Amino acid sequence: GAPVEINVSKVQPGQLIRAEWRGKPVYVVRRTEETLKALANHDDQLRDPQSAEPQQPDYATNGHRSIKPEFMVALGVCTHLGCAPTYHKDDFSEMVEGVKDGFFCPCHGSKFDMAGRVFQGVPAPLNLVVPEHSYPTEGILLIG
Ligand code: FES
Repeated sequence: GAPVEINVSKVQPGQLIRAEWRGKPVYVVRRTEETLKALANHDDQLRDPQSAEPQQPDYATNGHRSIKPEFMVALGVCTHLGCAPTYHKDDFSEMVEGVKDGFFCPCHGSKFDMAGRVFQGVPAPLNLVVPEHSYPTEGILLIG
């Protein structure tokens, strides 16, 4: 499939935008400073905190799983059976104590953090997939 270009220059801190690539939903979130800092605080609750599993590009094997720290880029496809996880901007702590924001899959309850990393004790086996992407110019994200 052809690469998909997304203008991310107007995405606000905390905002999620959706795109489609090869028939799959892509989630792009501009993380807040607070969200970025908090990513380091719950590694012990995650299945694969450093994204060692080989299902993403090399630039996603870090704590924030992205090229630019402020942007999370991941497929909006649960790694269990493919449902679309829901973004919980402020009330995720009802699902994981002490974690303000994250993603919850309504199908069987899998939970992912703001880097798409899966929490332990849920059916999803892997972190959300980070698609190949790049920033050809400032503010433009190219998926694929
Ligand atoms: Fe997401 Fe089963 S499809 S938990």
